[in-house]
Amino acid sequence: MKNYRWGIIGTGRIARSFAEALKGSPNAELYAVASRSTDKAAAFAAEFDFEKSYGSYDELASDNNVDIVYIATPMASHYADSMLCITHGRNVLCEKSISLNTAQLEEMLAAAKNNGVFFMEAMWMKCRPSYLKALDWIRSGRIGRVKYVKADFCCSVPYNKDDRLFSPECGGGALLDVGVYPITFAADILGDTPDEIISSANIVYGVDMSNSITLRYDDSTAVLQSGFEMECSNKALISGEKGMIVFGEWFHCSDEVTLFDRDGMEIEKSVLPVMINGYEYEIIEAQNCLEDGLTESPLVPHSGTLAVMKIMDKCRKDWGLRYPGE
Ligand SMILES: NC(=O)c1ccc[n+]([C@@H]2O[C@H](COP(=O)([O-])OP(=O)(O)OC[C@H]3O[C@@H](n4cnc5c(N)ncnc54)[C@H](OP(=O)(O)O)[C@@H]3O)[C@@H](O)[C@H]2O)c1
Repeated sequence: MKNYRWGIIGTGRIARSFAEALKGSPNAELYAVASRSTDKAAAFAAEFDFEKSYGSYDELASDNNVDIVYIATPMASHYADSMLCITHGRNVLCEKSISLNTAQLEEMLAAAKNNGVFFMEAMWMKCRPSYLKALDWIRSGRIGRVKYVKADFCCSVPYNKDDRLFSPECGGGALLDVGVYPITFAADILGDTPDEIISSANIVYGVDMSNSITLRYDDSTAVLQSGFEMECSNKALISGEKGMIVFGEWFHCSDEVTLFDRDGMEIEKSVLPVMINGYEYEIIEAQNCLEDGLTESPLVPHSGTLAVMKIMDKCRKDWGLRYPGE
């Protein structure tokens, strides 16, 4: 496999974790980082040993030596940043939630197709060994037909007007930031198109501080919770006719997943510690796709990303929550 030269756009919290993962990932080169500030880009490049630093996103997108760009900016910037990279012919791994809404995502997907580039949401959960183990158990019939999924992702975050989480202009709110995980989890297991979506939200500061979502299917249901204003178990349960699968705390990045039979007896526990910090699996997946000449990841297909965005659009429509400019 050839080495892939990565570029990173944005130098915030997740960009740092991703750079750590890049450092230890096979065939990954820390090539360039871009910030809106030349100084921040230079400091980030020096800290993580990137070859180049740019004081604008445009310069990085224009660099023909970049094999793939990881976009680590707030939600409201994903559309513009992805389009910038895609129209310069760059492959893109874009953080979740991939856009503010379905209309933006459809344009991004069309642009990626027209430019023949690889495009993937950085939905690291779907690339992780514990998640793939659970899918394997389901597909091989270990719990029978799945009837119920329960997942929550909540934490108590003190209000800070400068934090993107509380900013409508940045696409803040629990739904797009953490709610995307339980929804992706449920839709992947029960199906992309629920028959009914019932939801409610507590809206403060112009964003949802918490929300509850029920996805109703023909003969199965998902009950999902996300928020910034309370603590939850943050575990996940997949319940079937013959048994159940339980993910440990912070289910979206849990190393531990357990299989129980219909009597509640533990029959298999899988503990799969990550190699670096967990982000390496999406890096490896993106590079494998590039190596195979794919423009879409089989683990994180465009159809699934689009389906989740449609569910989130429907929830926000029901809550009357619109972002500036929508
Ligand atoms: N996969 C995960 O586990 C995970 C975890 C956390 C976050 N995320 C996702 O990663 C993305 C970034 O989250 P984060 O927590 O890293 O955010 P953050 O700490 O606020 O950093 C975002 C960066 O984006 C750039 N940026 C561009 N336009 C901006 C604007 N208008 N306001 C603020 N920053 C702006 C800034 O970099 P420059 O100043 O250098 O340009 C900033 O440092 C989000 O989509 C989030 O959902 C994923």
